[in-house]
Amino acid sequence: MRLKIALLTGDGIGPEVSTQAVKVLKAIGDVYDHSFEFKEALVGAIAIDKTGNPLPDATIQLCKESDAVLFGSIGDPKYDADPDAKVRPEQGLLKLRKELGLYANLRPIKAFTSLLDKSPLKREIIEGVDMLIYRELTGGIYFGEKYLSQDGTVASDLCEYSQMEIERIAHMAFKSAQTRRNKVTLVDKANVLETSRLWRRVVTNVAKEYPTVALDFLFVDNAAMQMILNPRQFDVILTENLFGDIISDEGSVIGGSIGLLASASVGDQHALFEPIHGSYPQAKGKNIANPIAAILSAAMLLDHFGLNTEAEVVRKAVDKALEYNIVTADLNVIRNFGTDHVGDTIANTILANDESNNYMNHENINIGKSIFF
Ligand code: IPM
Ligand code: MN
Repeated sequence: MRLKIALLTGDGIGPEVSTQAVKVLKAIGDVYDHSFEFKEALVGAIAIDKTGNPLPDATIQLCKESDAVLFGSIGDPKYDADPDAKVRPEQGLLKLRKELGLYANLRPIKAFTSLLDKSPLKREIIEGVDMLIYRELTGGIYFGEKYLSQDGTVASDLCEYSQMEIERIAHMAFKSAQTRRNKVTLVDKANVLETSRLWRRVVTNVAKEYPTVALDFLFVDNAAMQMILNPRQFDVILTENLFGDIISDEGSVIGGSIGLLASASVGDQHALFEPIHGSYPQAKGKNIANPIAAILSAAMLLDHFGLNTEAEVVRKAVDKALEYNIVTADLNVIRNFGTDHVGDTIANTILANDESNNYMNHENINIGKSIFF
């Protein structure tokens, strides 16, 4: 397969972790004879610095001409500290989601077997967790009309949803549940919000087309609690933009580090793949950021194009790095490796293409060194 991939590495640790994801995709390309062609473009704070615009037209153009977008992260403390900043890096990402029509954001949350004791939650709570959040991404309060009174003392953000916006993502969530454990949980606040009541009506109707899938409802406050109390109860979670943003960060605790969580944002024409962590500016350029979320986002890209075997090979290589403790400092404070070393290990595991583990240097592993050298 030939794929044109727009590479938007962005700010902070974005460039470092994206480099590892590219390395891994190139390894997959070599072993499975695919050609992935990467072209870079600016987004976020770096785009503001260079062009004054967090999402230059050239970037939108490149994304539209490409088969997929691989995204790093955006954000810079110099904008966070200034509530009056007119241009913000985040606007670049929000506009890109809207321009590309990426209305569904998929965020898988799993407990990795080798990390069960790394989570602040107890092993018996998180063992076997496997949920997939479908977060609506181009509507709701993020995109509704914003208002600030002249004297700056009153503000409002409108939350609006249409039946069509709910239906299209609901179909995706139900189809996905059919390939999983046949359960969809709609997370909302239907006891208070009119938009949530619309979600309930529309999703209940869509559910009739998927009789094998069970649908249940949870208010978001209760859902936030249930995700920590009994996360195994969830299969597919379907929710609106803001609730999805919040509960997916909460879900990252289950995996043991937000540095592990991948995501795919898809629409009818385009798709973008990005780690859910932010730009982590304190770690920028230090080679300490966890590249696994970016690498697993690349695996989601492979899945999106039907390259499921290849995606599974990437996930197995990640599992191996975790199993042998070739991890960054967020997962092991005492014995850890650099961002590039973790990326090299995963790419080399793929290139070795060898289930037997004979390619590894076991003596080195035992003394805490690289598995290859
Ligand atoms: C995310 C991020 C973004 C969001 C920010 C950076 C605008 O937190 O992708 O979850 O809120 O959607
Ligand atoms: Mn978020």
